[in-house]
Amino acid sequence: MCGIVGCAGSGDTVSNVLTGLENLEYRGYDSAGVALRNGSGIEICKRAGEISALQGTISQRLSSGSIAIGHTRWSTHGPPTDANAHPHTDCTGEVAVVHNGIIENHADLRTALEARGHEFTSDTDTEVVPHLLEEHLAAGRDLAGALRETLSVLDGSYALVVLADGEDALYAARRGSPLLLGVDDDRTFLASDAPAFLEYTDSVVVLEDGDVATVTADGYAVTDADGAPVERAVRSLDWTPEDARKEGYDHYMLKEIHEQPDAVRRAIRGRIDESTGEPTLAFPDGAFADVDRVQLVGCGTSYHAALYGAGLLAREGVDARAILASEYAETTPTLDDRTLVVGVTQSGETADTLGALRHASQRGARTLALTNVLGSTAARECDDALFIRAGPEIGVAASKTFSSQVVTLLLLAATVARDLTGDLSADSRAAVRALTALPDQLQAVIDDTDAGVIAERYARQEAYFFIGRGLAHPVALEGALKFKEISYEHAEGFPAGELKHGPLALVTAETPVFAVFSGRSDEKTLNNVQEVQARGAPVVAVTCEGNDAVLQQADEVLTVPDTHPDLVGVLSTVQLQLISYHVSDLLDRAIDKPRNLAKSVTVE
Ligand code: F6R
Repeated sequence: MCGIVGCAGSGDTVSNVLTGLENLEYRGYDSAGVALRNGSGIEICKRAGEISALQGTISQRLSSGSIAIGHTRWSTHGPPTDANAHPHTDCTGEVAVVHNGIIENHADLRTALEARGHEFTSDTDTEVVPHLLEEHLAAGRDLAGALRETLSVLDGSYALVVLADGEDALYAARRGSPLLLGVDDDRTFLASDAPAFLEYTDSVVVLEDGDVATVTADGYAVTDADGAPVERAVRSLDWTPEDARKEGYDHYMLKEIHEQPDAVRRAIRGRIDESTGEPTLAFPDGAFADVDRVQLVGCGTSYHAALYGAGLLAREGVDARAILASEYAETTPTLDDRTLVVGVTQSGETADTLGALRHASQRGARTLALTNVLGSTAARECDDALFIRAGPEIGVAASKTFSSQVVTLLLLAATVARDLTGDLSADSRAAVRALTALPDQLQAVIDDTDAGVIAERYARQEAYFFIGRGLAHPVALEGALKFKEISYEHAEGFPAGELKHGPLALVTAETPVFAVFSGRSDEKTLNNVQEVQARGAPVVAVTCEGNDAVLQQADEVLTVPDTHPDLVGVLSTVQLQLISYHVSDLLDRAIDKPRNLAKSVTVE
């Protein structure tokens, strides 16, 4: 995700800011920039690409200053270009702004600002902020007042830091995006994450939503949105910079599992009309009205999300199938201009998926990239792109990107079905509505899980099986994939009904079976549970609270909050991710970098 660093104080603040940006590199970014105030105004240097590209030019371009801000950008609005990199300025170049989060009403604000004569130089949502500040400053407000007026019209989330000509202070505000102060003897830092400044100071002030802070070399002051002073405690962090990067979690994977409530919140933000239960993805009305069939292609975890998406589409009566990207060309599916091919790919760079998308495109099909990375090859090459907004994923094993893919696919499936039938089914509408409660339900799973205890009980077994039917089938496959890739133990996923057609021969008292229940056809899966229990296998059921028949039959249970059956799989996946994580931790595996695996697979 984007990173913010600011520094007011003695010494070379530009170097401090650059070091801070480097310390945030682990979060992922696609462009970076720095602004400083010197005696004659504001200087800015910003570039698409790595911080090192910035460093190459910064020494020639920027003089040193006693106050500076910097930013690493993970693109959400507009591609990763020099112009879209932060900081952003107003028409006069007298204020510079860095921002994390999303200004949801930026389009309306921009239209109004342009009508009043402002000229924009980027595609970003952020740029409305400096132009709004410019207007309030021109009307005679001081910077703190101008910032407050500006914040009062912003919808969405932000951590904002403002540098202004003629000001010895940095001004900052937070709502829904983290922002911290680092307090040192003769300088004060602002950052989105503590690792940015931990090598200089471990004294930290955590800003809260609604706070507005003024930061100088000598210290800081925090007020509420009306300007009334508020007290925020200074805490001492005893983290190493590496601990801080993982925010206290032992592994990035665990941190990313815990980030799922926020990731899903971002994935659905601004994409649902809560009053009607309609998806509001940014496609023109009827964009998919001429689609005869949908093919979803992907690899590994993304293939499992594709299978889930195909299941959602099929239930709405759409001709949909998921195909492993590496098998796509060989299976020569029907392809024409009424075929929509959705490439499901977190990185947007997986060679097999790009190959399948190119194969489809060359045969006249319409392509859509469902990806996490703006500016990725898939996003650039496909006719359309839909972003899952999960934020960077550092652990090699995908976790938060799977849940973000599935919820985005649910919104896409509802959109396609509505375009094809002219209306949204009541069931689909209910599923879209249920999405709004999903982030809190994910949090409840994380807070209340028994996965650690169950993992201890079953950590050293011969093999592990995962079964599910319908939408629980891709969840079972994903559970098994996660388990094998980070624990190195033998794990397989099967459609629950297939077990008796062969795999049952492998089932013994030493092969725990994880049975995933979606809330549909559960009684059939219960029959399969009894089949494996009759062979002595312990069964861990993953099911909704209150599913008494399952709770009574299973040997162990991992429960999830009750929700629409289309969403149960998202919650269940978190339980299985945690089982894999805890077993692998007990076995002392290299969880974030499992052997033989890479995060982005760019060979076929
Ligand atoms: C498993 C995992 C991989 C990826 C696969 C596709 O945890 O991460 O199976 O899902 O390599 O990668 P993307 O989604 O980047 O195309």
